[in-house]
Amino acid sequence: MTGGSRGIGFAVADALLRRGDAVAIAATSSERVRDAARELAVRCGAADRVLPLTCDVRDAGSVDVAMSATVARFGGIDVLINNAGVGTGAPIVDLSHDEWRRIIDTNITGVYHCCKAVIPHLRTRGCGWIISVSSLAGNNPFAGGAAYCASKAALNAFSEALMQELRHDNIRVSYVLPGSVATEFSGRATDAGGEWRLLPEDIAEVIVDLLAHPARSLPSRVEIRPSRPQKS
Ligand SMILES: NC(=O)c1ccc[n+]([C@@H]2O[C@H](COP(=O)([O-])OP(=O)(O)OC[C@H]3O[C@@H](n4cnc5c(N)ncnc54)[C@H](OP(=O)(O)O)[C@@H]3O)[C@@H](O)[C@H]2O)c1
Repeated sequence: MTGGSRGIGFAVADALLRRGDAVAIAATSSERVRDAARELAVRCGAADRVLPLTCDVRDAGSVDVAMSATVARFGGIDVLINNAGVGTGAPIVDLSHDEWRRIIDTNITGVYHCCKAVIPHLRTRGCGWIISVSSLAGNNPFAGGAAYCASKAALNAFSEALMQELRHDNIRVSYVLPGSVATEFSGRATDAGGEWRLLPEDIAEVIVDLLAHPARSLPSRVEIRPSRPQKS
């Protein structure tokens, strides 16, 4: 699970631990990912089933090390959840080259790094699942979101193609497109007045439901949005 230290990733890790899975959570901030693992271990009574990893998905070497550590600890990998993602609201004319690279490298190149690293492990198992957390912003571009929306549109196309590459290996590929979720994403405060937003647990429920599907079934794309969004 990339980006498991807070927000959606933390909620997904919590839900997977509660169903008895072993979960590695990866993020760039070592302290925060360790704190998250400690909290998950207490909440879920799962100290031996949660592994914190410091990993930057933008760096292929860092991803390879994280995958190897996960296999060494748990004996293999069944599911990759590409959840790490970043975004900034800025018109292109004001968006720095560094910020453009941070968004594209995290949201799409990072997914490529993680998929490339995990596929041999899933093939060894003879089955598996890759689930990526995309965004409805990939379908609904908005002013100030060009880099983020483009990265998520690319992730959608990447997932569709990868699904076709891997389905005959018994490896399922899905992507989930949430609308607005109450997290700290993009420096946003979990503010008062945001009660209309989805909760991270709602996305976790979708992912747990996906994983419960029988082997013959592949819900490859799932959209989830607030039922009563704020009126503009
Ligand atoms: N919140 C929303 O409204 C919303 C809506 C649709 C889709 N999404 C998508 O949902 C996913 C999770 O978002 P969130 O709302 O839970 O955001 P969040 O609270 O900001 O969490 C992002 C997570 O990703 C990690 N991360 C960021 N850059 C990373 C990198 N280079 N390598 C590894 N980990 C990295 C962060 O930890 P570190 O900072 O320590 O690295 C953190 O654990 C993202 O892909 C986002 O695009 C969010």
